Amino acid sequence: RIVAVIMVGGPTKGTRFRPLSLNIPKPLFPLAGQPMVHHPISACKKIPNLDQIYLIGFYEEREFALYVSSISNELKVPVRYLKEEKPHGSAGALYNFRDLIMENDPSHIFLLNCDVCCSFPLPEMLEAHRTYGGMGTLLVIKVSAESASQFGELVADPVTKELLHYTEKPETFVSDLINCGVYVFTPEIFTAIGDVSTQQKDRAHLKHISSFEALQPAMRSPPTDFVRLDQDILSPLAGKKQLFTHETMDFWEQIKTPGMSLKCSGLYLAQFRFTYPHLLASGDGTKSANIIGDVYIHPSAKVHPSAKIGPNVTVSANARVGAGTRLISCIILDDVEIKENAVIIHSIVGWKSSIGKWSRVQGGGDYSSKLGITILGEGVTVEDEVVLINCIVLPHKTMNDSVQEEIIL
Ligand code: GDD
Repeated sequence: RIVAVIMVGGPTKGTRFRPLSLNIPKPLFPLAGQPMVHHPISACKKIPNLDQIYLIGFYEEREFALYVSSISNELKVPVRYLKEEKPHGSAGALYNFRDLIMENDPSHIFLLNCDVCCSFPLPEMLEAHRTYGGMGTLLVIKVSAESASQFGELVADPVTKELLHYTEKPETFVSDLINCGVYVFTPEIFTAIGDVSTQQKDRAHLKHISSFEALQPAMRSPPTDFVRLDQDILSPLAGKKQLFTHETMDFWEQIKTPGMSLKCSGLYLAQFRFTYPHLLASGDGTKSANIIGDVYIHPSAKVHPSAKIGPNVTVSANARVGAGTRLISCIILDDVEIKENAVIIHSIVGWKSSIGKWSRVQGGGDYSSKLGITILGEGVTVEDEVVLINCIVLPHKTMNDSVQEEIIL
């Protein structure tokens, strides 16, 4: 039996995702027409003998209730949301629910960050992990030396694949091999986290009884039940023949900003060609609009046959796309109306927004920079013939003048 745990974090963690996270928890934001967390969940389905999937986070339970019950029915695997009262850190969160996770005595526990986009090669990781025989195996990937410092950098033995050295987001370059945030562990991981947590408590206790510390409350250490998987567990265990690495040659990205969600939506759409071709508009043969490349159109959306759509476009539920419109690389959320001859490029259009006739909503297409795409929050109205370039517009604004490179508060 195997259990999978997906870390979904909580509201304070999603701040870089504004204004989109004002409406919906980041893990439920749609990529390729499916909630972000749906992609790792459906990848878990390929794990042999999968018993349970747990989502652990500190969002309100009701925010996940509907999704969790519908996905459990769809996958025929129980999916449960477990709410932490407060953040415990990635390892602390896992440890907090150890009794529940170990309930049916699983042999292995998969742990996945929800904000990564990849092909989640979980069966391959499990196979590699079984041959290595350690306590855990990390999915790793080579990235450019310039971008590596945003992630956990690591050194692995080229032959045995053992994790030899691990540094989280180092200031000086260590390695271009990085941690993808996808792991498989044996239940011994709980002993390792428990040991660290006990050490932290002992240290905090010693500090507390020192009078110097008591006089300076600002110097008190962080809460003792907060354990980070990377710094507190992976770093000290590296080089002890307990952790191993499995390198992926497929795509991998981290989704911290709306710009990256647009890029990752495109990556998942491209993957659908092999995994779920019936979800692509070009593959279902029912949409009469002019479709170019990978496009997802929700069955309830109404698209005029003269619209030209793609590549990398997602049109969500009940959206209406008018005659003569052109959509390229964008996410159109639920209940949006796009009027005749409007053009939308490298943009995310928020729920219930309305885009006027002959208007143009466009981003520069640099997905990693702050104003590289245009983002409209919920309920934004763009009047007819208005041009918005590289803008972020907060919810419920009406735009009647053209604007470039601005954040409209
Ligand atoms: N439930 C819960 N509780 N989830 C948490 C908590 C917590 O207290 N803290 C973080 N998470 C979740 C986040 O939502 C995210 O999915 C995952 O755990 C990791 O988040 P962070 O700990 O903030 O780390 P990071 O995303 O900056 O970097 C980690 O992931 C990278 C890969 O995406 C590190 O492990 C890096 O080394 C790694 O490269």
